[in-house]
Amino acid sequence: MLNDNQNAAFGLEGKTLKGTWFVNKRVDKKPHGTGGFFSVCYQVENIQTGKKSFLKALNFAAFFAMHNGSGKNITEIIQEQTNAYQYEKALLERCKDRNLNKVATIIDEGEEVLSGYIIPQVPYMIFEIADGDLRSRLIDLADNIDISWKLRSLHNIALGLQQLHSVKISHQDLKPSNVLIFRDGETSKVGDLGRSLCQDIAAPHDNGMGGFAGDSTYAPPEIFYGFHEPNWNKKMQQVDLYMFGSLACFYFTTITLTSAIFTELDPSIHYYNWRGSYEEAKPYITDAYFKAFEQLRPYFEKNAALIELLVLIKHCTNADPTKRGLPTKSNHALYFPFEAIISKLDLLTRKAESIAVYESMKSSRSFTK
Ligand SMILES: Nc1ncnc2c1ncn2[C@@H]1O[C@H](COP(=O)(O)OP(=O)(O)O)[C@@H](O)[C@H]1O
Ligand SMILES: [Mg+2]
Repeated sequence: MLNDNQNAAFGLEGKTLKGTWFVNKRVDKKPHGTGGFFSVCYQVENIQTGKKSFLKALNFAAFFAMHNGSGKNITEIIQEQTNAYQYEKALLERCKDRNLNKVATIIDEGEEVLSGYIIPQVPYMIFEIADGDLRSRLIDLADNIDISWKLRSLHNIALGLQQLHSVKISHQDLKPSNVLIFRDGETSKVGDLGRSLCQDIAAPHDNGMGGFAGDSTYAPPEIFYGFHEPNWNKKMQQVDLYMFGSLACFYFTTITLTSAIFTELDPSIHYYNWRGSYEEAKPYITDAYFKAFEQLRPYFEKNAALIELLVLIKHCTNADPTKRGLPTKSNHALYFPFEAIISKLDLLTRKAESIAVYESMKSSRSFTK
């Protein structure tokens, strides 16, 4: 395995790339949670405009570490990772061309060649710089963030997913480290399309059996049981709805829904013991799912808007993937469920804002009594 000194991705500090981007400093990994393993990140500055941006360099060494002992040779690994990088770039270019404003899109890209390293090439992408990701916001600030900010942020993320769906991209890896916060919390955007699927560009990570390549910590339960939805639109909705609902849960509990479900499941039904289909396991998963929600409920009971949010989360994360989405009046799941979710979240944000105004008026009145 390469150490950091032998890895060109760690050697960009102080360089000027493409005559435009001065590489200021490396951005350290956050101590908590997942994400960021496959990239080395830097803060960069456009020397013409002085504007700060964010650079993500492909970290080949992380892939060698991952494949250590797998029998793959270096050339194969480099080829695979180059394909993955080109794929992510193609999706990002599409988002940029369509001006998707709730998806963290690319500003520039390139490849720097640094002499003196075993692998001298460092492919990189440059993005608008965020304040950070959701982990730092939620975990570092703990309970001090108001409910309406969280709901507005979720509303932005639902918009981001809908924008991606409109250009035939299914995110598939929504989780706290892939939610980016911009302009002092004013806007939240969906980031990291590295594990996404696209209807008309084959993903290098798609193994043809459902193609889920996101972080399994946040994956919908059926993925663990080999459930395979052949219809592309349905697959896109089912996975992204679950991951969105699960993320919404995380905003208010910092608990991961998938682990909450598996904790409630009898070990004999766990995927590593189970020999049957997801269909056969579903009644048990559904039971565990309801028990998980009993644990989560108290976090949502403190506010009327959150009680409604919990209902929405349940619609998004139904243990039966075919039943995810908000029901219409005729009780069928909507074909474009994110539209309904976006309107509902807009409404809930306003509701939470007016509750907050009322509460603060009440407390200032009792203070002046
Ligand atoms: N535009 C950005 N501005 C600031 N920080 C970012 C930006 N994009 C990503 N990050 C940070 O870098 C981490 C890794 O980036 P990400 O795109 O998720 O790559 P990876 O594939 O390595 O997970 C994110 O979790 C986030 O903390
Ligand atoms: Mg990530």
